[in-house]
Amino acid sequence: MAQVEQSLRGRKILLIVGGGIAAYKALDLVRRLRERGAQVRAVLTPAGREFVTPLSLASLSGQPVHESLFSLTDETEMGHIELSRSADLVVVAPATADLMAKAANGLANDLASTLLLATDKKVLMAPAMNVRMWLHPATLRNVAQLRADGVLFAGPADGEMACGEFGPGRMSEPLEIVAAVEQALAGETRIPLPGDAATNSSLLKGRRVVITSGPTHEPIDPVRYIANRSSGRQGHAIALAAARAGAHVTLISGPVSIPDPAGVEMRKVETARDMLAAVDAALPADIFIGAAAVADWRVEGAADRKIKKTAAASPSLTLTENPDILAHVAAGTANRPSLVVGFAAETDHLLDHARAKLARKGCDLIVANDVGTGTGVMGGTSNTVHLVSRDGVESWPLLDKDEVARRLVERCAMLLAGSGST
Ligand code: CTP
Repeated sequence: MAQVEQSLRGRKILLIVGGGIAAYKALDLVRRLRERGAQVRAVLTPAGREFVTPLSLASLSGQPVHESLFSLTDETEMGHIELSRSADLVVVAPATADLMAKAANGLANDLASTLLLATDKKVLMAPAMNVRMWLHPATLRNVAQLRADGVLFAGPADGEMACGEFGPGRMSEPLEIVAAVEQALAGETRIPLPGDAATNSSLLKGRRVVITSGPTHEPIDPVRYIANRSSGRQGHAIALAAARAGAHVTLISGPVSIPDPAGVEMRKVETARDMLAAVDAALPADIFIGAAAVADWRVEGAADRKIKKTAAASPSLTLTENPDILAHVAAGTANRPSLVVGFAAETDHLLDHARAKLARKGCDLIVANDVGTGTGVMGGTSNTVHLVSRDGVESWPLLDKDEVARRLVERCAMLLAGSGST
């Protein structure tokens, strides 16, 4: 037999085996992890015991198998805190809908859930369940919560299931889980789900999404205008990610110098008022995302001829407020999209301003980013964002704008599924 590379030499894995027909694959997973040099300690849930025996897990792992919270309470032996922390990585395979729901909600009423709550290590889950259970809004909510909490996922895969149905929900193969373990231990903070927008063209299938992007230009006279530094990169990237996720996308963009994203319906506008009219014409939609840096003011009574320099005095400009497109869409009664997302570009007190904007504009989610001097966000290619909703704040690490877009689209799809909108 060919020698297997010792890619996991000395790494300690705590493997939680949940109940499901896929539990038999956990036995092979133990073998694959060990042949790469990992030490594996297994925890078997009562439901898991219905599918594999503690004896087979113990024989393959070469370690005692833990099954009950209360048999561990004698802390002289190995308490649950130590069990959960002595590992380098906690792997849950199969991760059942029930285990995921418990972990997403912080329940700790048995050994597996207690370990998941007590651990200070990364957790990698390999879900396995019926396709309808996987696509149920409750599970989607739990997955979103777990990902927000930093849990990594391997799979599930698409395919025929033991129950005879077809679709996502099948546990990944042991070698795929091994690859995810290696990625997790190498410091990956995110392993794409098969349901991710980049790989799944049905996440927003049948949904209509309207997005604004870029700056607006507010004329002073026919040759001069007021503008801002927005490049349109973030809004355009979101439009592309939403189109790739199967949505019908209308992208309403102010003047930008980047190419139109593929597969979206473009509407090109100049001023805030043009943008508002184009948004109204594009509604109704399931999702509205206001990523444009709409000019707050326009010049009152812009000249229709070029203003000439005169010896007398410099011209003075009187500014008047532009309509707030985001607030207008969020306030829409008949036409309000199920999900209204705004951006908050701030240079100080980022989260306070973002929370205030969420309330003031009546939207469901604010993507807040710091555009202060030196951040390079305006016009740049990467972004550190915080998602602010009524449920709290979720901060993402520095990501390129394409990745922010992909994650945001995925999050919108989950929120839409969770809102019960069909
Ligand atoms: N927005 C909008 N119409 C406007 C102004 C802003 O639709 N006239 C939207 C932007 O697309 C963004 C959000 O509102 O999604 C917040 O934009 P931002 O410029 O950060 O906020 P302002 O409302 O302009 O508030 P301020 O400039 O005081 O921070």
